Amino acid sequence: MRGVESAEKAYRMLKSAAERLERAGVERPVREAQMLLAMATGRTRLQAIQELERPLTPEEAQQFESLIARRERRTPIAYLRGTQEFYGLEFVVTPATLIPRPETEMLVDYAVERLCDQPGAVAAEAGTGSGCIAIAAALRLPGARFLATDLSIEALATAQENLTRYRLQERVLLARADLLTALADDSAHLILSNPPYIPTAEIARLQPEVRDYEPRIALDGGADGLCMYRSLAHSARRTLKPGGWIAVETGAGQARSVAKLFREAGLSSVEIRPDLAGIERLVAARRDR
Ligand SMILES: C[S@@+](CC[C@H](N)C(=O)[O-])C[C@H]1O[C@@H](n2cnc3c(N)ncnc32)[C@H](O)[C@@H]1O
Repeated sequence: MRGVESAEKAYRMLKSAAERLERAGVERPVREAQMLLAMATGRTRLQAIQELERPLTPEEAQQFESLIARRERRTPIAYLRGTQEFYGLEFVVTPATLIPRPETEMLVDYAVERLCDQPGAVAAEAGTGSGCIAIAAALRLPGARFLATDLSIEALATAQENLTRYRLQERVLLARADLLTALADDSAHLILSNPPYIPTAEIARLQPEVRDYEPRIALDGGADGLCMYRSLAHSARRTLKPGGWIAVETGAGQARSVAKLFREAGLSSVEIRPDLAGIERLVAARRDR
């Protein structure tokens, strides 16, 4: 009987938490309330739902309340959890790093496609954030070495934590540098980047989770959103080996402009690939000579 009473109490607590999240504008309030309950109690979401009759300890109840209050203020769930899944791997994320997005996995697949038969290849990633692209690619390409740059010291510290976690310190070097400036001429077989690409004026219109919590330096692509691509196109021409490739992620509606920038910089074989939602998402090009 006591089990039934506690389950009813927990159910009411969960329902009220979900209602608070819904009023705050959170898109999937029931699911998220369950996830936060799981986080507060150190269980999986399924366990948290199945074991509703187990009363919360005072510490768990306090932790649950604190998580709900932060999520009500639209703190992204990945920052509450401190991790995000990307390419089947778990990455530490902090408010200094962008939260890795599923569409960015295309860049990892691209790297594997280009470098799988080139042991000893050198790749560079500009704007590494949590390190998710370079790390996932390095794990798939055991013969390759990576140089990953970022301007943010705090992001690089998180990338370092992820590198250590996956024991890749020997093959992935981190450098605080402006995009590809740390790279020698004619040195890279492949350049990857998911640069900041939101036009400055659009940032104010983004959802609160992104606008108010993700680092501005990871979002702001200048007046037209293309600022970083201009720089990357020019540097790629200098730093790629002849026959090397660059691939970048682009925002919706930007791919053709980026393809044009690549052509204007003297790169060839320009290609645009859509993501699973049909949005033109990846632009790649080659340095011929
Ligand atoms: C859109 S985030 C991508 C993070 C990560 N690669 C990912 O895909 O999740 C862009 C990253 O570029 C970094 N960044 C911004 N301007 C930069 C610059 N001029 N040089 C190097 N990194 C820069 C930001 O700090 C941020 O970590």
